[in-house]
Amino acid sequence: MASFLVCYGTGEGQTATIATRIADVLGERGHDVTTVDASEVPPTLELDDFDAVLVGASIHVGKHQPSVREFVSSNRETLSAMPSAFFQVSLSSGAEGGEAQAAGYVESFVEDTGWHPDRIGLFGGALRYSEYGFLKRLLMKQLAKRTVPEQPAPDPSGDVEFTEWDEVEAFAADVAAFVEGRLGIAPPADDRDEDG
Ligand SMILES: Cc1cc2nc3c(=O)[nH]c(=O)nc-3n(C[C@H](O)[C@H](O)[C@H](O)COP(=O)(O)O)c2cc1C
Repeated sequence: MASFLVCYGTGEGQTATIATRIADVLGERGHDVTTVDASEVPPTLELDDFDAVLVGASIHVGKHQPSVREFVSSNRETLSAMPSAFFQVSLSSGAEGGEAQAAGYVESFVEDTGWHPDRIGLFGGALRYSEYGFLKRLLMKQLAKRTVPEQPAPDPSGDVEFTEWDEVEAFAADVAAFVEGRLGIAPPADDRDEDG
């Protein structure tokens, strides 16, 4: 068993939900997982207490949450010395042709923080129109129409989700396998069967 920290930043909750799904996948593989919002990291939290760290952030107006940037910058050396992964949630990753934009956000993040994660996951986010105020709803509808002409069907509240949950689960399994390999931990029986 390995111990994982999943530290995330979120605006309207989609990255928090993705962090929880990642934690569930790691937990199902028998690992011990702590999830924490980057804006509420307890002062007693020590990265050295964990075997591996995943950091997640969403994009708002081209930027990741300042709390996540701060967390990574101030822990860069420790993060660089342990297995680590980064996941990013954005509208660009849910848009056809948005890959370069999404990759550009990661590139800036790596450049600014100096942290080179071992694994990177890029996920489409969600547009929670029902939770936005009037102006934000109007602006986001216009932005979405421009950037994602073919959108998934909205849920009954009018919200639209672009997250591909099987991609999230595959990313979590890949990070787990990588960490298990680094620590010399046997993978779950299911994975061993698949490998033949
Ligand atoms: C005000 C606002 C600005 C946004 N700006 C961008 C952006 O510049 N680029 C992008 O790809 N996605 C953008 N998005 C989409 C968000 O990344 C997406 O809604 C994501 O699911 C937010 O995750 P969160 O709820 O964890 O913050 C924006 C969303 C909002 C509400």
